[in-house]
Amino acid sequence: MTKLLAVSGSLRAVSVNKAVLEACQKLVPSGVSVSMYEGLAGLPPFNPDLDGPKPPQKILSLRKAIGTADGLIISSPEYAHGIPGSLKNMLDWLVSSVEFPEKPVFLINTSPHSERITPLLMEVLMTMSARVVSNASLTLPLKGKKLDGEGIAKHAEFGPALTASLTNFIDAINAV
Ligand SMILES: Cc1cc2nc3c(=O)[nH]c(=O)nc-3n(C[C@H](O)[C@H](O)[C@H](O)COP(=O)(O)O)c2cc1C
Repeated sequence: MTKLLAVSGSLRAVSVNKAVLEACQKLVPSGVSVSMYEGLAGLPPFNPDLDGPKPPQKILSLRKAIGTADGLIISSPEYAHGIPGSLKNMLDWLVSSVEFPEKPVFLINTSPHSERITPLLMEVLMTMSARVVSNASLTLPLKGKKLDGEGIAKHAEFGPALTASLTNFIDAINAV
């Protein structure tokens, strides 16, 4: 079983970034699972003083979730030309972790207008020694379309595009 962990950079209840990750859950082939990381809003603000031998329990849980995942899917909005604070906070907690380096990452951008978010995340993730699978990463014009996960998965254009990227990502994971 290939286990993927999905992280939405938006905490909104009805979020297009969350919806595209739900579409991924529906589109992966058998033998592959996508679980949603639900802990983003509850993580403490990153503080190097707390990042010692006994980090907070929520950070241990985060690192365990990352460690047991074969790959990470991140879909994030762009906020004020930057990475949303809650997502950057999670990444900061992973900088010194043993679980994160070499982790395969698939980036999804739900708006072509948000042209900064993918390069910004690439820069941070490469600095953290993630293995960003660039032939999987994709931008889809989903913002404002009011589609839920099922609507995205069944859409004539978006469903096949996501499936192709997921296939590239799973192939890249299995190639190592
Ligand atoms: C505080 C804030 C700042 C934003 N800044 C940008 C921005 O710099 N560039 C951009 O393309 N969209 C920006 N947006 C629009 C978000 O990208 C848009 O709300 C996002 O698609 C919503 O995703 P969600 O439905 O997953 O929450 C901003 C939105 C908020 C709330």
